[in-house]
Amino acid sequence: MKLWGGRFTKPTNQLVDEYTASISFDQKLAKYDIQGSLAHVDMLSKCRIISESDAKTIANGLKAVASKIEAGDAVLSEDNEDIHMNVEKLLIDEVGTVGGKLHTGRSRNDQVALDMRLYLREALITISQLLVEVLQALHKQAKANLDTVLPGYTHLQRAQPVLFAHHMIAYVFMFQRDIERLTDSWKRVNKSPLGAGALAGTSFPIDRHYVAEKLHFDGICENSLDAVSDRDFVVEFLSNASLISMHLSRLCEELVQWSSAEFNFIELDDAFSTGSSMMPQKKNPDVAELVRGKTGRVYGHLMGMLTTLKGLPLAYNKDMQEDKEGMFDTVETLKGALALFAPMIETMQVKKEEMYAAVAKDYSNATDLADYLVGKDLPFREAHAVVGQVVLYSIQHNMYLLDLSLEEFQQFSPLIAKDIYDVLAPKAVVNARNVAGGTAKNRVEDQLTAAEGLIKKSLDWIQTHAEIVEGQS
Ligand code: ARG
Repeated sequence: MKLWGGRFTKPTNQLVDEYTASISFDQKLAKYDIQGSLAHVDMLSKCRIISESDAKTIANGLKAVASKIEAGDAVLSEDNEDIHMNVEKLLIDEVGTVGGKLHTGRSRNDQVALDMRLYLREALITISQLLVEVLQALHKQAKANLDTVLPGYTHLQRAQPVLFAHHMIAYVFMFQRDIERLTDSWKRVNKSPLGAGALAGTSFPIDRHYVAEKLHFDGICENSLDAVSDRDFVVEFLSNASLISMHLSRLCEELVQWSSAEFNFIELDDAFSTGSSMMPQKKNPDVAELVRGKTGRVYGHLMGMLTTLKGLPLAYNKDMQEDKEGMFDTVETLKGALALFAPMIETMQVKKEEMYAAVAKDYSNATDLADYLVGKDLPFREAHAVVGQVVLYSIQHNMYLLDLSLEEFQQFSPLIAKDIYDVLAPKAVVNARNVAGGTAKNRVEDQLTAAEGLIKKSLDWIQTHAEIVEGQS
């Protein structure tokens, strides 16, 4: 007999049971479901809706069910559709009919919204923590490469030399914003929907604020229809996850390029590379490629969730059961990628000489020749034209700018003097970008310091919020 079987005259078609059940995936919510039920039953007794002794029996029963599920000793069945009804069934098996009092003043609709929020709260902390570890690894590489110069690119053409530290810190700031987005979303996730009932509230004199406080929520969802209907917090998470994936994917692309023979700028550690089953010489950046590849599924889950919600009338609709798998998969996908990322970055070998050699063999100091002429009062547009001529001449003569003799330089402009060789040296070119946010060493050091402060801020947030989540279990 189903928990809701009373008004039915025959059993559900087997295929319907299989099709509508969510237990195969929502069992991930068991822990949160029971946390929520413990708070709910405590409130029911505090509000004298059920007796204290019944509440105690139910609470003990729920704890026993939790241990059984955790130990893998509980049978979770499709006959009971989802985690909420499975837990209730197990509770009744455990404590008898009194277990049937748990669902007083509650619906699976507010219950599932609660479970999702409890789950996501924990995920926000875990993912932020993993992101901080990536930041720390990037920061470490940056610190170790304050003198490493490599070509900076636009359009994937060598543009101007930059410090490798500068390049690493660019990602630190990107991932830092990702953490900020996750931590900012906390205040929207951390609202209790419990007590919204199926949609309209409940006729029992419950205390929503009491439950919310017990579960360390910042408050309640103010409108019961909204509480059970919206999954905007899931969409927001998937959107934030998409940005994280996009940032990871861009860095992965660089790692893949840099580890090719064509670039030869880095070598990924053996422990973070894989081989080919056919070509013995190969060492592949599989991890970076797969992280890049998995961006597709994360974006897919975002689109899926947005599309599922589009056009749904208020309040709860069964469509919304589709909110879970994408969210779980996104959390697991990010956890997998981020856990690998920090050690992969930390252990990668940066080939400083190769990077420097690449800079020495390009025209990325051309802007500095133009800037030099501007310093001698030539308008920038004219200087640009002169240097264009110098570059063309150099290409035609198979030379780089530093290979030109002073006489050759002076054929293009008499303003050029012998100090030009110091000006065009790669390190000088880098240090000339002495502007806030620029690639000059002292400016990159400032960025390192700023990044350190941001990392510290994120760590503080994680610590205080992890305490909230731990306190609730
Ligand atoms: N398994 C359902 C879900 O995940 C729980 C809520 C079901 N509510 C209902 N009235 N059928 O969305």
